[in-house]
Formats: sequence, C-alpha cells, structure tokens
Amino acid sequence: MKETFPTDKFRNIETPFYYYDCDLLRKTLHVIQEEARKYEGYLVHYAIKANANKKVLNLISQTGIGADCVSGGEIQRCLESGFPADKVVFAGVGKADWEINLGLDNDIFCFNVESKEELEIINELAQKRGKIASVCLRINPNVGAHTHANITTGLAENKFGIAMQDMHSTVLAAMEMTHIKFIGLHFHIGSQIMDMGDFQALCERINAIQDDLKERGIEVENINVGGGLGIDYNEPDEHPIPDFQSYFKTFAKHLKLRKGQKLHFELGRSVVGQMGSLITRTLYVKQGTSKQFAIVDAGMTDLIRPALYQAHHRIVNLSNTDELQSYDVVGPICESSDVFAKGVSLNTVHRGDLIAIRSSGAYGEIMASQYNCRKLPIGYMSDEL
Ligand code: LLP
Repeated sequence: MKETFPTDKFRNIETPFYYYDCDLLRKTLHVIQEEARKYEGYLVHYAIKANANKKVLNLISQTGIGADCVSGGEIQRCLESGFPADKVVFAGVGKADWEINLGLDNDIFCFNVESKEELEIINELAQKRGKIASVCLRINPNVGAHTHANITTGLAENKFGIAMQDMHSTVLAAMEMTHIKFIGLHFHIGSQIMDMGDFQALCERINAIQDDLKERGIEVENINVGGGLGIDYNEPDEHPIPDFQSYFKTFAKHLKLRKGQKLHFELGRSVVGQMGSLITRTLYVKQGTSKQFAIVDAGMTDLIRPALYQAHHRIVNLSNTDELQSYDVVGPICESSDVFAKGVSLNTVHRGDLIAIRSSGAYGEIMASQYNCRKLPIGYMSDEL
C-alpha cells in the first residue's frame, strides 16, 4: 500500500506542516480493536503524549478507547476531546498537586503511582476532597528493551516506577491508606520495541510478581503493561499498520491473567506514527565541497526526533521524479544537529520542491518548539483538505 499524497492541495498550504492520513488512522484503530477484542478483558488506552492534536484526538475518542495521560494538561485535553474520565489513566513520575486534584475532581479511572511519597500526597489530597483515589502502582520490572537508550524505561537505574525491592512495602502502605483504593500494577519498559521477546520477558516478570503477591494473599484486578510497540520507520509503505496481532498474542500466550483480571495497554506510537508526515518545502540546494545539502524550511523545532535520538525517518521528494541524487537534508535552525538525514537518496531536488518526512505522526507535532522564534507547525487532517 503506497501512501499517496495530495501534492496539488499541498501547494497552497504554508510549510512546514503535518499531514495526517485519516483513512490510515481509522484502519489502524479498527485493527487494534479487532485484535484486542479476541481476548477477554483487554482494554486499550491511547497514550496522548504521542500526538495531542485535537482533530486527531477527536477521531480516536470516537472509537471508545481510553486515554493514557502524563500531565494535567493532557487530562484536560483528552476530556475536551471526548474521552470519558472513567477510561483515563494518569501516570508520571512528578505529578503536581493541581494535577492530582484535577484527576480527583474528574473521577479518573486510576492514578499510576510511581513512589511511596506520591502515594502519601494523593491520599492526603483525596482525603481533603472526600474522595477515594483508585491507584495502580508502577513497578520498575528491571526488564531491558532493545531500543534507543533515551526511550528505555524499565531498567533498575531509570527514574520511573517503584523498585522491585520496595514493591511489597508500598503495596502494603497503599492497602492501609484510608483514601486510596489499590486496584492494580502498572509497567512500561520502553518505546519503539520491535522484538516481541521484550514483551515476553515483561510477561514472565509479571507472572513471577503475581505469584509472589498471591503467596502474601494479595490479588489485583488490573494489570497495565504500558505501551511500546514500535513501527517500521524504514518501510512505512510496506508496514503502514504495526503487527498488533503478534503483539496482543504475545501477552495472551505468556501472561497468566487471573480470573476476571483486566489487562490494560497504553499504545501511542503504534496508533499514530505511520499516519503522519511532516511536509516541508526546499529553500535552497547548496553545493558543499564533497556533498550537497537540501536546505528545507522545516527544522528540529518541527520534528526533533532525528536530532534528539538519531532517529531515522524516510524522506521523499513529492515534487519530482528526476534521477536520484544524494543529499544531506537539513533545516534552517542555528544548531549543527539540525539535520534530518545524511546521504539520503532523493529524486533530484530543486528549490520549491515539497519533501515529505514520513512516519512523523507520533512525537512529531507535539514535541515542536518555538526555538529561534519559529511558528509551531499546524497539523492538517486528510479529511479537511
Ligand atoms: N505509557 C507510558 C508510561 C509511557 O511512558 C509511554 C511513552 C507510553 C505509554 C507510550 O509508549 P509508545 O506506545 O508510544 O511507545 N519521544 C520519544 C518516545 C517517548 C516515549 C515516552 N513514553 C520518541 O520520539 O521516540
């Protein structure tokens, strides 16, 4: 399935901008729901952090899936966009009091709590409001994921979650608190994970934890395994929809759910990654001493992933089919890391050519900044063009 871009319509839009393919998003959501439905008790939440564009959120919330938030701003945004509060989970290693209060006031489904200190504050704030906060404890399972070091989160030295050795005492503390209802365990081992073996390792760790808790007479209603399923940045046309079938199957096969237990997923990148492209216009083609540069009007302020994580995004020239040449594709920002790709093969680039930076639907628009006093990029839905 080759993505076709409405290049004629793009000509009149100010660049750079994000283009979101609604059909692909709808298909992806459909596959997720069909695959998750095969298993009893599987509940999917969309991780808002990946893309919080209001039009994107409206489309996703219509499917009835839940939301995974990591800030008060995200809670507000998802409620405005039609996600029901009783399907909202709220994680984050540093929740401010106002953010906790916002969650309490809206009776969100649960707080994913990352420390004993945070648990105490939630208990206090809930008491002041006469509420009972439902809580999952985020356990750091010390399971490594084969992904970029900046986006692996489940290792013992990461700042996230409660260390395994503190788990029992924190569970007992939660169970004793008057305004906390302890309802489950939360995990998240990292992002852009392509190796199902990593999720299998997480399942095995959770099985051991559940056995251990059971021996102490503790059983929980909810297990949340976070997000992390990766996408194919190299071949977005060959794999526009991630392999949700294998993903859910891995959990079905390896995770021993207790009777009646719910299994929650917090998928971000895999939901929205492939439906988005950053569309940029070529300003100059500059001949260097040993290479040529395609200087485009998008920069690391619009898409920071290549500069921050050395991430690879497929780049295509939408404006012509002339012979292939090699380019370094760079932005206009005053930073030498403002490079989208080096030595990439593109159909001959001319001033004015439109270039698509593919697979940018996740952690693209939402991570944009105004450095150099630049405008934030706008996101357009294919339905509205
Ligand atoms: N749940 C938790 C607790 C998370 O921390 C994350 C992502 C997710 C779910 C969603 O993970 P996903 O399904 O998208 O992998 N900006 C980076 C990715 C940061 C991911 C942060 N946490 C990037 O551009 O690669």
